Amino acid sequence: MRAALKERLSVAISQEGINVPSAKASDIARFDQMHTRGLASTRELAEIAGFQPGMEILDIGCGLGGPARVLAEEYGCLVRGIDYNEEYVHVGNLLSKTMGSTAVLDHGSALDLPYQRDRFDGVLMQHVSMAVSEKLRLFQEVERVLSPEGTFAFHEILSIDGQHPAYPTPWAAERELSHLQTKQEFLSSLSQAGLTVVKGQETDREAAAFFEKALSHTSSRGLSSVFGPQFPTMVRNVLQGLQDKKITIVMGAAKRSSQL
Ligand SMILES: C[S@@+](CC[C@H](N)C(=O)[O-])C[C@H]1O[C@@H](n2cnc3c(N)ncnc32)[C@H](O)[C@@H]1O
Repeated sequence: MRAALKERLSVAISQEGINVPSAKASDIARFDQMHTRGLASTRELAEIAGFQPGMEILDIGCGLGGPARVLAEEYGCLVRGIDYNEEYVHVGNLLSKTMGSTAVLDHGSALDLPYQRDRFDGVLMQHVSMAVSEKLRLFQEVERVLSPEGTFAFHEILSIDGQHPAYPTPWAAERELSHLQTKQEFLSSLSQAGLTVVKGQETDREAAAFFEKALSHTSSRGLSSVFGPQFPTMVRNVLQGLQDKKITIVMGAAKRSSQL
């Protein structure tokens, strides 16, 4: 199992002519940024959140660590990621080591973070909450590990009026495994956890353009080497969900309510 992802990724990356030991984080972004608009949206989120050199940042649901490596390399942050998929963490740490990245990934649950209260200057979360049913617990953990002045940067997919796209999607093989919230529910769970959104924007138009472009490159290996052969169908379902106004993709920043 572990060798499978490592092998698939290594073949796909080398077929693109990329030499991993000398690659920058941005060079492998189409393989390890597992969210809408890849590298561009990670950079946008870092700007929205105001992440600065020397800040300690936690990437919750870090996947293969693509965003973590970008924050470390381009923004000078000290980044830890955490994910409950052991294979992602293993392969992600191998990539970091081979590339000389300081980003370190831990294996663990977003619902029981193995870090002290107030530890991080920033918390990043991209395309994770849709897979988590216990939203309040998720955001309570964000609030707990965030320093009083810290910023929670989020980039998540939400339901419009309780609707769902067709499945599979990249976050759920079927409807029963998907835990989309509406915007109102999202804001309410953040608020119950003690977090208040201070900046927020919808990114639907840019996201749809990104998916249309991705689908026109059917030969592109990119994230198919991570998500498997159903990836084009997943992308098509998300694009259709956006076009039918069943889902919306938001990004923004939240602060601890007690600090506002
Ligand atoms: C769509 S991927 C996004 C990965 C990464 N944030 C990125 O943008 O490249 C969602 C990730 O969330 C992780 N995840 C989902 N639920 C989790 C949980 N309860 N605890 C830790 N990780 C979780 C999955 O294993 C997966 O790696």
